Amino acid sequence: MATMTLEQALKELEQDRSLFAPDQLRRRVEALDRLETWLIHAPDLADDQAAARHRRIEAMATDLEAVNRALYQSLRQDIRQGRGAEALSGWSRELVGQEVRGEGYDCLDALVSGVLQLDEPDANSADLASEMVFYQPTPARHIFDFIHRARLTERDVLLDMGSGLGHVSLISAICTPARCVGVELEDAYVASASKSADALNIRHVAFVRADARSVDFSSATVFYLYTPFTGSVLRHVLDSLKREAATRDIRVCTLGPCTPMAGAEPWLDADGDRREDRVVIFRSL
Ligand SMILES: C[S@@+](CC[C@H](N)C(=O)[O-])C[C@H]1O[C@@H](n2cnc3c(N)ncnc32)[C@H](O)[C@@H]1O
Repeated sequence: MATMTLEQALKELEQDRSLFAPDQLRRRVEALDRLETWLIHAPDLADDQAAARHRRIEAMATDLEAVNRALYQSLRQDIRQGRGAEALSGWSRELVGQEVRGEGYDCLDALVSGVLQLDEPDANSADLASEMVFYQPTPARHIFDFIHRARLTERDVLLDMGSGLGHVSLISAICTPARCVGVELEDAYVASASKSADALNIRHVAFVRADARSVDFSSATVFYLYTPFTGSVLRHVLDSLKREAATRDIRVCTLGPCTPMAGAEPWLDADGDRREDRVVIFRSL
């Protein structure tokens, strides 16, 4: 970007006081992305003018981040006091008119990450077999979309298979009365998710360190899979779920490449298109 254009764009951001309104998270996250790009592509800071502009960019980013931090803190307080569902519902309505499909992350992920404050362990220590998929969180808009469509009640027990840092179970436990359980092979992820649940005083959520193949499924009613495994491991789990479905009605919710395999199960019926880029809710027949 030419110097004048950068100067003008920065001035425009500096003068836009609406960016400081708490509800302007989406625009703030976009502005922070721009500021970060400008910092990365900063011209030679030996030039006084460029150095001064660099400081203004940093100051603007600091101010916007402070607004976000205050917003996250206030939402954390709401959650601790049992008002999480209400507090997050306005944000989940961000979905209205937005395209849910797709893999990318957006400002709702910034919000969820700021609210949950999960420690991110450096590396996987669990020795994942080749058919087990490394950690990647479900994009937040898919979690809210899933919660909205699944209508979990207090009679439901949600089991997130391969729960990673626990986003799906934590947000579901905040926003619904269902009991939520995350099963995960990686110790450090289980510890991080449990710590977040404790700090937010979320009671009806638990994280268990286990291989999903060895878990007792008998108390769960809804199973969530963001393609945690493929091939024979997925086959093993689907066969176990089929046995569970012979004893009661269950729902199996999938996102990503595991959807076609679930979709090929004759004992499961999908709630709509069996596409990989949006959570599909299957009911047992
Ligand atoms: C794609 S991530 C999904 C994370 C989380 N469910 C979400 O949607 O945000 C897959 C996770 O499954 C875990 N995983 C892979 N195989 C597993 C197994 N056999 N049992 C339990 N967890 C497993 C991985 O460690 C990883 O954290």
